[in-house]
Amino acid sequence: MKVAPSMLSCDFSRMGEETARIDRAGADYIHLDVMDGHFVPNITIGPCIVKALRLYTKLPFDVHLMISEPYKYIDAFADAGADIITFHVEAESDIEATIEKIRSRGLKAGLVIKPKTPAEAVFPYLDKLYMVLVMTVEPGFGGQSFMADMMPKVGQIKAECRRRGLSVLIEADGGISDKTVSQCADAGVDICVSGTGVFRAPDAAKAIAALKSPEARKG
Ligand code: DX5
Ligand code: ZN
Repeated sequence: MKVAPSMLSCDFSRMGEETARIDRAGADYIHLDVMDGHFVPNITIGPCIVKALRLYTKLPFDVHLMISEPYKYIDAFADAGADIITFHVEAESDIEATIEKIRSRGLKAGLVIKPKTPAEAVFPYLDKLYMVLVMTVEPGFGGQSFMADMMPKVGQIKAECRRRGLSVLIEADGGISDKTVSQCADAGVDICVSGTGVFRAPDAAKAIAALKSPEARKG
């Protein structure tokens, strides 16, 4: 299991140092939640913050766009230093064109599904995707409870990829901690996002290690 700590739960007044701290603690990706106050009620960070954080780590930036018109902002986030850009199937932009735009900038593209969206919604695009992100909370806020009933979608997407000979990573996001991560691991999740689970832990390195391996969770 790879771990992508969500910067949404960091100390925003010291975001650069927080990025470096979580890199040293063993993160595999840096997950950046972009919200526009329209697709979701909350407003968070934009491309200028992503660009500023780029100076603090070489880890891949996993940019999760929770915005109504992702197509319009791909260039801005690519210029800012994103490595992976994921956007929601429920957003307004043309899905095909947005994936192409991300790939044309040399970045990896991912699609995200909200809890009420079925797994099949991403099937038509799987051959163009690096990642599918299955939300395990309603997008918008950190610190919500993990929805275990999303796990069957992970299996459905994996089965469809297997059937078509595709290797697409599955990421899960929302309410993931040492208590819930084993359900993700059992379902076949490759990357877990964790905000409060990592940033509110007394020791971020221990929290990340626990998310990565069952042995560490026991210890
Ligand atoms: C929610 C965001 C998540 C969130 C996860 O809309 O996409 O990345 O920050 O936070 P926790 O791990 O606290 O649920
Ligand atoms: Zn996220």
